[in-house]
This record gives sequence, structure tokens and C-alpha cells, in this order.
Amino acid sequence: MEVVGMVSVVLIALSAASLWALILKVHCRVTTGICKSKRRLDGKTAIVTGANTGIGKETAKDLAWRGARVILACRDMRRAAMAKDDIINSTGNKQVIIQHLDLSSLESVRKFSHRILESEKRLDILVNNAAGSNLPNILSDDGIQIEMQTNHFGPFLLTILLLDLLKKTAPSRIVVVSSFVHKYAIFNVDTLHTTAQSSGIFRYCNAKLANILFVKELAKRLEGSGIIVNAAHPGIVRTEFCRRFPSVFKFFVELMISTLFKNAQEGAQTSIHVAVSEDVEGITGAYFVDCKEVQASKQARDMDLAKKLWDSSTKLVKLTDEELKVLKKMK
Ligand SMILES: NC(=O)c1ccc[n+]([C@@H]2O[C@H](COP(=O)([O-])OP(=O)(O)OC[C@H]3O[C@@H](n4cnc5c(N)ncnc54)[C@H](OP(=O)(O)O)[C@@H]3O)[C@@H](O)[C@H]2O)c1
Repeated sequence: MEVVGMVSVVLIALSAASLWALILKVHCRVTTGICKSKRRLDGKTAIVTGANTGIGKETAKDLAWRGARVILACRDMRRAAMAKDDIINSTGNKQVIIQHLDLSSLESVRKFSHRILESEKRLDILVNNAAGSNLPNILSDDGIQIEMQTNHFGPFLLTILLLDLLKKTAPSRIVVVSSFVHKYAIFNVDTLHTTAQSSGIFRYCNAKLANILFVKELAKRLEGSGIIVNAAHPGIVRTEFCRRFPSVFKFFVELMISTLFKNAQEGAQTSIHVAVSEDVEGITGAYFVDCKEVQASKQARDMDLAKKLWDSSTKLVKLTDEELKVLKKMK
């Protein structure tokens, strides 16, 4: 009798878990936003960072399919070359270029920007997609905590150095890929760049909050320039994102994500929507989820915090007064 009771409990628990999974799957299917814009991008140029895999690769592929010249900004040139071949083969667009960029090095960001400014006549779309999670808590060669540099300070410097070209090409767009986890940040601007800030997963949450605060402050400073800048959360997406997680945890998380949540193509839809859609014209400083504008957390809308982060970021990435002058010429 006791065994029968145990079996019943297990069966009820399994049924409840299956029902819950089914509801979650249906919810994900129904709510997944798809970019409906058919806009062509012939003659336009786009940069996508971290475009050798995952959401970045699917974003780059879509922009190439629309006819854009697409620059894949990647740190691993072998994987970048493989992504380039795949994108050219599947879209027929040969205007796909690879350029080296390591966002965890200020020197690499400067070299990349320099090459772009030398070689490109225009820049219509910049997608700051690349990010790393669960990186070791160490300082980079620039003395900045490496995850924060990869996910916020590097993209910050990159964007400022490319503003002049974006302005010359206006109307142009900047997309910063953030995450819903910005809501769980434990944020202190003064220690953000150090190894003393919050541990593990909270560093990633902090970086994703920094992404939105950057978008808010930059949008304010770019008012009237013809450049719009918005943040996007892609959803929960099966990519290589969990690669540095402990293997058992990684196995279960990846299994759950691939069964219940988005693939990389679905995950790229919000970035694509924000980069190309006619519906986004005139919208700046906003946060998008599933191709819809939604409100970011209260902290992400704190403009005093955004200004404080801006000031500290300009100092940490060593932007010169001359380089910052570009923002004064924006109106
Ligand atoms: N997947 C999700 O569920 C999810 C959810 C919310 C937000 N996001 C965001 O979506 C974006 C894309 O993530 P993903 O899921 O596609 O992850 P992914 O598959 O791990 O791809 C990340 C990309 O960023 C690149 N990258 C990492 N560190 C870099 C560095 N120092 N310099 C240059 N490139 C670097 C990676 O290059 P390598 O291959 O060389 O490492 C890779 O191309 C990220 O901003 C992430 O925060 C993802």
C-alpha cells in the first residue's frame, strides 16, 4: 500500500511538472516577438559584435539577407571566418567582412575603431551584442574587472569612437543587447570596475544594468543628432552562453532552455527589430522585449545613476577631451 502511495505521488509530481513545462512552452511560443519589417538595407553598413555564434550571428545573417554590408566584429578570427562563410552561403550576400575585436582590451577596441574609420564611408547600424558570463573575477590588462570591461566598458568605448561616422550617416541606429536580469543588479558605480564588486552572477546582472543606463544617457546626449539608441532583451535563448557554467548545471540549464525557450534565430528578433523596423523610427533611450517597448527596472531609469556611470566610464576607458568633443557636435 505504501509503495502504491509513493508511486501515485511521483506520478502526480511528474504530471504537474509536465503540465507546467507545456504551459511554459506554449507561453514562449505565443509571446515570442518576430520582427515583421521587410525593410531592405541595400547600400547600408552594419557592425555586429560577437557575430561568430549565437544571437549575434543570427542578427548578422538577417542584416546580410536584407542586403547590408555587414562587419562581423569578433575576437576569434577562425570562428569568425566560419560564420562569414555560412552567412554568405545562406544569404548570397558577399558583402560580409570580418574584423578583429576583443572587447576586453581598450587597445583592441581603439584599433578596431581606427580600422573602421579608415575603411568605411558610412555606418548605419551598430549592434553591441557581444558579452561573456561567468568570467573569472580578474582584472584585464587595463586594470578593469574583465567581465565588466567585456560587457560594458569595451562596448561603451567602441560606441563613442564610432559616433562621428554614425552621425555622418544619420539617420542611424545603435542597439545594445541587455537582459531582463538587469533587474537583479546590486549596483555600485564606484566599485563596478573592481574585483571587489558583487560576486558571480551579479556581475553579469550589473553589466546588463550598465548597458541600459548607458543607452538612457547616450540617448539624452544624442537628442537631435539623427542617431537613435535602444536596448534589447533577446529572451531566454539556447546559445553558447552557458559555456563557462559548471558542467552538470550547464547540462540541465541547456536542456531546459532548448526544450522550453528560444533558438538563436528567435532570440535575434528583438535586436533585428530595433535595428531595422520602421516602427522604431523616432524612438530612442527605450528598452525592448519581444519586439515591443517595455519599461526597464526603476534603477535602469535612474538618470542620476546613468550620469554617474557615464562620468566614471569616460574616465576608465581614458577618452580624451578631444574624443568627447564629438558629442558636442551632435545637435
Ligand atoms: N542567451 C540568452 O539566454 C541571453 C539572455 C539575455 C541576454 N543575452 C545577451 O545576448 C547577447 C548574445 O549572447 P549569446 O546568448 O548569443 O551568447 P554566446 O553564444 O556566448 O555569444 C557571445 C558572443 O560574444 C562574443 N564575445 C565574448 N567575449 C568577447 C570579447 N571579449 N570580445 C569580443 N567578443 C566577445 C563571443 O565570442 P567567442 O565565441 O569568441 O567567445 C560570442 O561571439 C549577449 O549580450 C547576452 O548578454 C543572452
